[in-house]
Amino acid sequence: MVRDMGRALEIVSNFVKERVDELKLAEEQETKDLLDALLEHTGEGKQGPDSISNQIVIIIILEMFFAGSETTSSTIEWAMAELLRKPDSMKKVKEEINRVTGPQRKVEESDIDNLPYLQAVIKETLRLHPVVPLLLPRNAMRDTDYMGYFIPKETQIFVNVWAIGRDPETWEDPLAFKPERFLVSKIDYKGQNFELLPFGSGRRICLGISLAHKVVHLGLATLLHSFDWELGNNICPETIDMNERVGITTRKLIPLEAIPKKRVMDAR
Ligand code: HEM
Repeated sequence: MVRDMGRALEIVSNFVKERVDELKLAEEQETKDLLDALLEHTGEGKQGPDSISNQIVIIIILEMFFAGSETTSSTIEWAMAELLRKPDSMKKVKEEINRVTGPQRKVEESDIDNLPYLQAVIKETLRLHPVVPLLLPRNAMRDTDYMGYFIPKETQIFVNVWAIGRDPETWEDPLAFKPERFLVSKIDYKGQNFELLPFGSGRRICLGISLAHKVVHLGLATLLHSFDWELGNNICPETIDMNERVGITTRKLIPLEAIPKKRVMDAR
């Protein structure tokens, strides 16, 4: 831990240092990102409740990397695995992307709203494979009665969104990957529909939800639009291993092996 955290901190410290140096030279910035916004609260002469030290900036950026990397990449990997297991859904989602962008143009962020089947694929993936299956732990601040259960003060609480997403009382055919179920439902993952909480809910809801929404849709759509995908040797849709490796995040136990092939253009 000490070695690896030290290395991670070193990498991020370098990003921050590079940006501080760039800002010294830059005359005017056209666009600002999170790091620019944070750095506006640092430096000499910045005091009071809004000021933060460089060390805090480094930690915040590091946390964004921790929270935003594996969550996003694992979600895309699960989605690819589910689609490769269900060639019908794969065909539908590819056709939809092709229809919206045309065969040549790359997928863009602004296309996401026009790709309802892709959105349904992501929702269905996050229902079955929420990468933070128990959310972040909560602690009961006082003795609480909740729906007939007594929860003593200071109990540590885990919310099992993995089980909620597979609850047969809520979901028809809960273990099947069926993006279609979301085409006829308004259920979303923004924390208001308690049957689907892959980003959590309430004050501690995922802080990167809007970034994750864009990156996951754009990342998956780009992979699907740029290549046709084949499975590795001796694997067919029925034998893709879908076992989970459970930790703070739920990853595939055996990483998906899929081979990108040059896309066969639709002749129409
Ligand atoms: C598919 C991608 C992602 C999923 C499924 C996901 C899921 C979650 C979940 C379940 C939580 C805990 C919420 C709760 O306990 O109520 C969380 C917290 C958090 N997420 Fe994400 N996340 C994703 C991507 C990201 C990205 C891209 C970022 C930032 C760049 C990010 C930053 C954070 C942070 C900082 C927290 C802690 C918030 C807090 O404790 O107040 N996440 N995320």
